This record gives sequence, C-alpha cells and structure tokens, in this order.
Amino acid sequence: MTINSKQEQRKKEHLAIAERLYRQSAFERDQFAQVRLLHPVLPETNQAAVHPEQLLFNRPIAYPIYINAMTGGAADAMVINDKLAQLAAHFNLPMAVGSMSILKQQPELADTFTIVREQNPNGVIFANLGADHAPEFAQEMIDLIHADALQIHLNAAQEFAMPEGDQDFRWIDNLRALQSTVGQQTPLIAKEVGFGMSAASQAALFDLGFNYLDLSGISRTNFIAIEDHRRPTHLVSDYQDFGLTLIESLLARLSLRQTVQKQAALTFASGGIRTPWQAVKAFALGADLVGMSAYFLHLALHHPIEEMITIFQAWLDELNQLLPVFGCTSVADLRQIELIFSPNLISFADQIGLD
Ligand code: FNR
Repeated sequence: MTINSKQEQRKKEHLAIAERLYRQSAFERDQFAQVRLLHPVLPETNQAAVHPEQLLFNRPIAYPIYINAMTGGAADAMVINDKLAQLAAHFNLPMAVGSMSILKQQPELADTFTIVREQNPNGVIFANLGADHAPEFAQEMIDLIHADALQIHLNAAQEFAMPEGDQDFRWIDNLRALQSTVGQQTPLIAKEVGFGMSAASQAALFDLGFNYLDLSGISRTNFIAIEDHRRPTHLVSDYQDFGLTLIESLLARLSLRQTVQKQAALTFASGGIRTPWQAVKAFALGADLVGMSAYFLHLALHHPIEEMITIFQAWLDELNQLLPVFGCTSVADLRQIELIFSPNLISFADQIGLD
C-alpha cells in the first residue's frame, strides 16, 4: 500500500509521533499522585470472590477496560488494528477504531478498519468519527464494522493546531441530527481526544442527549503537540497545560452528579492511564470503564501478539488482585474507597463547587 493522500500521511505521522511521546510526563503522572486511596487493614474478601466481567450495551465484556481510538486508514494502521483486535478478542475487551472520516475520500482503505471486526467477530467495537459528519455517513461507518456504538470525537484544540485543520466548530445542529437518527439505534459516545471535559461541557452534552461521555483528559499524547510537530511553522505558545486532566474531569463529573441525575449514563475514563494502579484511582473517582490508547499502541509497536497477550495478562491480573486488597469484589465497589486529595486538587474541587 502506498501513501497517497494527505490524510493517510497524517495517520502515519500520528502513530510515529505518539510513540515518540510515549513516556508519561511528570504533569501526567502527578495527577494520579494527587489522589490517595485509604485501604482497609481488614479487607475481609478474597480473590475468588472477584468478578470483573460486566455488560456493556447489553453485551458481555470480561473487564471494564477498553482499547481506545487510534487508527485506521494507512498501511501501518492495518498492522496495528489487526494486532489490537486480536488482543481485544483474546480478552473480550471493547475496542474503538480510529477516526473513519478518511473513508469519505478514500473508501478503498476500508479494510484497515474492517480487519478489526474480522479478527474479533463477537467483540464490542466502537466506530469513530468527528462531529461534522452527516447521519447517513455515520450509519454507513457503523454498518461497515458492525459497530456496537459510535464515538464522536470533539477535537477543536487538535483542529486548531493541525496544519490542515478545520476551524469551523459549529457542531451542535449536527450532533442533534446524529442523536435523532443514528442515535436512536446505536449508542453515541461523545469523546474528547486528550484535553478533558469541564462540568459545563459535560452538562451541555447531557442536554444534547448524550448518555455516554469519554472524558479523555490531558495525556502525553497531546494532540496540540502532535500536530505542532507536523507544522511547517511551529505554534508560538506552549500548550502543555491546555485542558483538564482525567482526574479533574472525573471530579467535574462528580460535581454534576449532585445536580444532573442520569441513570443510564456511563463515564468512559481515558487520558494518561498506563497502569492498573492509575486505573483503580479512576474507578475510585467514579469511572465506569477505563480506556487506554498510547499504552496499547506502544505494546503493538514493540511486541508480537503472543507477547502482547502475556504482558497484558499481567496488567489485568494486577488489577484483579488489587480489588480484594481494598475489600472490593467488583470494579464498581472501588467507588466506596475513601479518598484523600492533595491541596491542589481540593482547591480545584472547591472552585468547581464540588462538596
Ligand atoms: C488517538 N486518539 C484519537 N481519538 C479519536 O477519537 N479519534 C482518533 O482518530 C484518534 N487518533 C489517535 C491516534 C493516536 C496515534 C493516538 C495515540 C491517539 C486519542 C485517543 O483516543 C485518546 O483520547 C488519547 O490518546 C488519550 O489517551 P491515552 O493515549 O493517554 O491513553
């Protein structure tokens, strides 16, 4: 396969630059250090009682851990999606494909996405598109990979930095149209791409009928920085502190729980997560599912599928074994853990009106 479009070239560069930025920044790691968990000295449960499996969109999944959106639409993407789909199938984990908008111009690249369904015929798979696509195209993309849900990425900050970015961010009418058509049959997940979501943003999405939000907070896979690497002339400013971290976005979600009661709502927590301990902290703060992109990209780029399985088995075992330490038998139980916040985080919580 040859690189024959700007979009394809962009996909290729995203993978390479994201991998270069893989190591977590101090800023990213520090967000998790700001939340301490109080463990009981008498947990009074055991490993045998732990049951991490649950239903998602009425389908069984083995763990509330998902492979988040990354790629499709280039030769390297094909290899990565193939491996990630095999991993998802092996563990029965949900998986999102990367943005499918490239298929509008280049439908011949469809196999870089359909490979995900071929390798994982029974798994839970999310399609992925930007907010400006017509319902008919969205439905086509869902049908193409028999997706169980559609992630709609909201990426104004990325478009701002992208050399060929679209600077028109008037999305609400189209989001309403998507909700009233595609959304009647297929769950729609409103997703950030690594800059988090404030309470006001989350409330606006709930108002538009979205029950499922992927908060995707600040990550080293910072899409302003990634696009800046691709610019002929670099941006003038440094945007490492643009947006909210996942932890801050989860606090914003909690602040909303006090006013917005959404029984069916699910919080997909991603952005900056690499380890089971970080995932446990996200669950303790109210995440329903935890997603990772950069972690899985790194795994797929450096290991054959057999090694990926061994390495991720150890990751899942560690998560599983952490639950009884906290007296928990399911991930949902982790919400009962008593938390201690750093002064910085208390100040943040105060400022967003979280009691
Ligand atoms: C992404 N991400 C992304 N998100 C999205 O909704 N559509 C997309 O096409 C892509 N593409 C993409 C490519 C690559 C190479 C990476 C690493 C990431 C964003 C991703 O889903 C996630 O929101 C952020 O990467 C933050 O999570 P991590 O990487 O810190 O786990």
